[in-house]
Amino acid sequence: MKKTWTNCWLEYPLIQDQPDVTITVASEWDGVIINRAYHELKRGLESLYHCQVTQAVVTTADIRFLKDPGLSAEGYTINAKKDSCTISAGDEKGILYGSFALLRQLQIAQCPLHELTWQETKVPSNPLRLMIHWDNLPGDIERGYAGDSLFFKNNHILVNERSIDYARLAASAGFNGLVINNSNVAGAAIELISDRFYAPLSRLQEIFHQYGLKLFIAVDFTMPMLMGDLETADPTDPDVQSWWQRKAKEVWENLPGLGGFMVKADSEGRPGPYAYGKNHADGANMLADAVAPYGGLILWRCFVYDCQQDWRDTVTDRAKAGYDHYMPLDGCFRDNVVLEIKNGPMDFQVREPVSPLIGGLAKTQMLLEVQITQEYTGQQRHVCYLLPWFRQILDQDMCCWEGPSKVSDLIQGKRCGKPLGGISAIANTGNDPNWTGHDLAAANFYGIGRLAFDISLSPETIAREWIRLTYGDQPKVEEVLFDILMNSWPVYEKYNAPLGIGWMCNPGFHYGPNPNGYEYSRWGTYHRADHQALGIDRTTAGTGYTAQYAPNLQKLYEDVETCPEEMILFFHRLPYSYMLKTGKNILQHIYDTHFEGAEQAAQFLSRIEGLAGLLPDDVYARMHERFTLQKENAEEWRDVVNTFFYRMTGIPDEHGRTIYP
Ligand code: GCU
Repeated sequence: MKKTWTNCWLEYPLIQDQPDVTITVASEWDGVIINRAYHELKRGLESLYHCQVTQAVVTTADIRFLKDPGLSAEGYTINAKKDSCTISAGDEKGILYGSFALLRQLQIAQCPLHELTWQETKVPSNPLRLMIHWDNLPGDIERGYAGDSLFFKNNHILVNERSIDYARLAASAGFNGLVINNSNVAGAAIELISDRFYAPLSRLQEIFHQYGLKLFIAVDFTMPMLMGDLETADPTDPDVQSWWQRKAKEVWENLPGLGGFMVKADSEGRPGPYAYGKNHADGANMLADAVAPYGGLILWRCFVYDCQQDWRDTVTDRAKAGYDHYMPLDGCFRDNVVLEIKNGPMDFQVREPVSPLIGGLAKTQMLLEVQITQEYTGQQRHVCYLLPWFRQILDQDMCCWEGPSKVSDLIQGKRCGKPLGGISAIANTGNDPNWTGHDLAAANFYGIGRLAFDISLSPETIAREWIRLTYGDQPKVEEVLFDILMNSWPVYEKYNAPLGIGWMCNPGFHYGPNPNGYEYSRWGTYHRADHQALGIDRTTAGTGYTAQYAPNLQKLYEDVETCPEEMILFFHRLPYSYMLKTGKNILQHIYDTHFEGAEQAAQFLSRIEGLAGLLPDDVYARMHERFTLQKENAEEWRDVVNTFFYRMTGIPDEHGRTIYP
């Protein structure tokens, strides 16, 4: 059967025709992951050079896999000296990552293996590097914009050639685990941890294992009631505890090596410990104790707020919820619990400050949660390369203790001194032929994996790598796509909600401009704009949100003069006439950025048109369609948002451009 999907960045476009060359590979030790590493090298090199790759004895091979007990888990050293190349590692996964790194480097250098001189040692920056799927058992994906689930269909589990290709992509980017199902656990997903699904799950797990990926399963907190015959899910109830202990034993007997469970509790309709008057440490620890004998982890999501509440008054600020719920529990969690925290205090908006919880927790392991499925960032119809944003998030200094306190340090456990932590990305994949809907969205999948593995990488380096691996060595393609990728997030932000205000999109599906769109009641807005002012006062004189930050940051945000202007309306309520550092007032800034953003989106389209004939026809056709739509949508955003503020203020654009009255 012909494959109906692409290889993304594992395409391995030809570097040099070498049909007479044979490259030999040998390993000092065996194992299923080593075996995969060999096959990946074989596949990659044969495609890059049209050569032959065979196995050999260690002493004579061109590429040798060596054991180096001195290297930390998952790390590798590559030493390529023209005629010999060694990949050394402390464990099998290191060999796999090293093999992918070698293939990557060959494509960057664009030379034959025997001409490569290169040395690199890498140990992953983060122990946990996870793709988080919001896939439902019927096959749909919550906030999915790239087709249906790769793992589920009609309440069955899919185990097929594409599962292998998924694992290859994830491992080559640097991921080492995945949560396979939506943490809004419903329907048949409740039975994922039962005899009904163990057999196919275990087959899938075997595939993932070969690529060094740990499988995690999202579970519902009330499983003892849903699956068992208990009338409570109270975490302090001995019957509940023993139900989970029995269940964990059964699960790990059937799925040995499982990574653990993920839980979304007491949020957006999910049940949780609050229903029993217990807190989230009680809930997470009870589960942690049940899975601990098997080395299991509990990934506990901190996206907790009351979605029934109307947040219109000025004191109950939704941005404060995460910190309020979890700070009192700092240090109360078991060592096999990791708190998973969204990058911002709200919900994956195009711009938010870093969640104060990340700087607050001093004794708790954390997993940063970012969203690469583009819920609020153009739903994979618009290009939005998110790595520049993620870089800023990781570089944010939370100023919260005397030691290293950037977000990247804190998630690596440098403050709490505990070994687990890392990055998780809400996945953007589906069964579309190109995996991610928009061809350029694959750069986010690749990019966040690379960044989680090597936290020092720049978005520029990652973008160039990805383009080169995906489309080969084509300077014009690289120049245009690099430029588009690097500008895509700023452009998207320009025609969307201004200055950190967030939303302004249609409630529910979160696409398309709707300045008055509000999730919680008929009459609220997120921006609180009236004819004089807009934004929310989140200073200590307002909702008090700024007090959740360490003193230096609090001071920075509290003072309108020092508050970063791209977030100024997140922190402050200001009149339209407020002068920004650019010398423009807020209203004119809104008008200008919206005109600019739409214009730049139109330029993206014409630049893509310049690549006709250079990209594969199907890729070009898909991109052309998406960029055309983006251009049209950006104009709509521009007009709707500008008109809204014009009607609100009655003040026209200084440059007399058309705004619809
Ligand atoms: C957002 C998103 C939901 C999702 C939730 C989550 O609110 O809109 O679809 O369930 O995040 O993070 O769990």
